[in-house]
Amino acid sequence: MTLEIGTTSLPHVRWNAETELRKAHMRDVGRIHTLIKYWAERGFMLVRSHEHLQENLRDFFVLEDQDGNIVGSGALHLLSDQIAEVRGLAIHPDRQGQGLGRWLVLAAEREARDLGLPQVFAWTLQVKFFLSLGYSVTSREYLPDTVASECGVCPFFDNCRETAVVKPLNALQ
Ligand SMILES: CC(C)(COP(=O)(O)OP(=O)(O)OC[C@H]1O[C@@H](n2cnc3c(N)ncnc32)[C@H](O)[C@@H]1OP(=O)(O)O)[C@@H](O)C(=O)NCCC(=O)NCCS
Repeated sequence: MTLEIGTTSLPHVRWNAETELRKAHMRDVGRIHTLIKYWAERGFMLVRSHEHLQENLRDFFVLEDQDGNIVGSGALHLLSDQIAEVRGLAIHPDRQGQGLGRWLVLAAEREARDLGLPQVFAWTLQVKFFLSLGYSVTSREYLPDTVASECGVCPFFDNCRETAVVKPLNALQ
């Protein structure tokens, strides 16, 4: 039996190429998909289909470097008038630890604040990353029912390894 884990490879990118943050465009879908698939195959996040990405494209931000590579993705998904989820967070393996993940999370938080939402949350295995950004650990029960209904269709519902983290948004930040 062949166990195929982590078969997706990404083209190398320059670690010091200048990078711009922008909202995602339909032409980015394939490359966002590949980036998320890369980390999903390594167990860090849920894989998202092309269809899901197309339907939810307005949620997404990307980081594009000066060579035209997509080196990061992240999204803000509205769940109620009280809370939105930061999701789809993926940084190219050659660009880890350069503040790009933080940049995407802050962009999602800014959008949530601009929309008048009082808090954001995320499901994650990278708890320390979110703690460093002012999130605190919470439980599924604390989150609104819309979250529970999304969890209900997740393939890992009975075997969830992720931790829920939440952050109140101060309007003055
Ligand atoms: C998790 C991830 C998004 C972080 O992005 P990044 O650009 O590497 O992180 P940043 O450089 O912005 O780090 C911001 C802070 O978090 C810390 N941090 C980042 N990753 C961390 C980790 N795995 N464990 C502990 N701390 C971490 C950094 O040290 C930094 O703290 P500092 O401000 O005190 O220096 C990125 O590593 C990634 O794409 N991982 C694979 C996919 C994944 O796990 N996605 C998350 C799904 S919720």
